[in-house]
Amino acid sequence: ATSTLIDPFGRKIDYLRISVTDRCDFRCTYCMDEDVTFLARDHILSLEEIVHVAKTFISMGTKRIRITGGEPLVRKNILWAIEQIANTTGLEELTITTNGSQLYKMAQRLLDAGVSRINISLDTLKADRFHKLTRRDKFQQVIDGIDIASKLPFKRLKINSVMLKNHNDDELFDLAQFALDRKMDISFIEEMPLGIITDHNRATTYLSSDDVIETLGSRYELTPSLTTTSGPTRYYQVAGYEHKIGVISPHSHNFCDTCNRVRLTAEGRLLLCLGNEHSKDLKNVLRSSSYCSTALNSKEHNATALENAIIEALALKPHKHHFNLDEAPQILRFM
Ligand code: GTP
Ligand code: 5AD
Ligand code: SF4
Repeated sequence: ATSTLIDPFGRKIDYLRISVTDRCDFRCTYCMDEDVTFLARDHILSLEEIVHVAKTFISMGTKRIRITGGEPLVRKNILWAIEQIANTTGLEELTITTNGSQLYKMAQRLLDAGVSRINISLDTLKADRFHKLTRRDKFQQVIDGIDIASKLPFKRLKINSVMLKNHNDDELFDLAQFALDRKMDISFIEEMPLGIITDHNRATTYLSSDDVIETLGSRYELTPSLTTTSGPTRYYQVAGYEHKIGVISPHSHNFCDTCNRVRLTAEGRLLLCLGNEHSKDLKNVLRSSSYCSTALNSKEHNATALENAIIEALALKPHKHHFNLDEAPQILRFM
């Protein structure tokens, strides 16, 4: 059946983000502590379960799926799942968000598996600062991966830089130029209270997107662009360049009115909004004995119980996020 999911506020939900693992090979200071505890294997969805949920969403009108983490490329056999999802009829675009550490060896295989766009996190161009921010000495590996990916025929590549006042805002121009030179877009992101961390004070490092754009405007001629990937980035055209500079402003310019998405967490909960706790456990539906013996094992795509759970979940989608940088985060690491 081709249908469309519509939430209680009339928003069409046709984009699914799937966090395939909570694990990561980095420990970015704004995201996780060095001694973070990850979920046990049997608490996270199997790749078969993830593919099944993805196919169910596609049958319910989902057009775009983004694979995220944690770091999605550290999940074993992830290319298999990516290929299964990418080849599902009805899906228009499969994209991935990565920290870039595995791209040097996986970029070509991601392209072959059907990934059309990659968003790569890069908060600094200084190797020593990269080591401090991520607590891992992988700067050159990430840059090599970006260079390899940028030579392959992906539809679009984007750099994501979380901007932290007095930590990396002196690199605004360098990061922007790095992306433009490589024919990539770049989004500068206002930090959100997402990971449970102890030694980073978010309120003191907040930098608004308006400040980012004002600073960049002193070097580039920026014009607001109508281009959108249907995501939260507000893009600006840059005179003299084909690629764009954007900002993601969850605090200063709320974008919830045009929200088109929900998230599947690694442990199989459907999270209706990044800034709220509202969620529905899909793992228990998938693992209920009557369900797995029919739907998950059948060749046909038989997903009624799961479809019903998804429709029930959608009714819980809140109107908007309300982040508070001074408060302890309510939710874990989801991208
Ligand atoms: P495309 O528009 O498809 O290129 O991707 P994107 O920018 O939506 O996704 P990406 O994975 O690159 O995420 C960039 C930043 O946007 C991350 O910090 C995400 O957490 C944030 N983000 C993505 N979707 C949402 C959302 O629905 N709400 C909020 N508050 N943040 C989001
Ligand atoms: N606030 C904003 N963005 C974040 N990211 C990770 N944690 C946060 C946070 N607390 C970014 C990553 C990556 C993107 C998917 O989300 O750096 O670029
Ligand atoms: Fe890993 Fe991304 Fe979190 Fe950094 S922000 S620790 S790269 S999941």
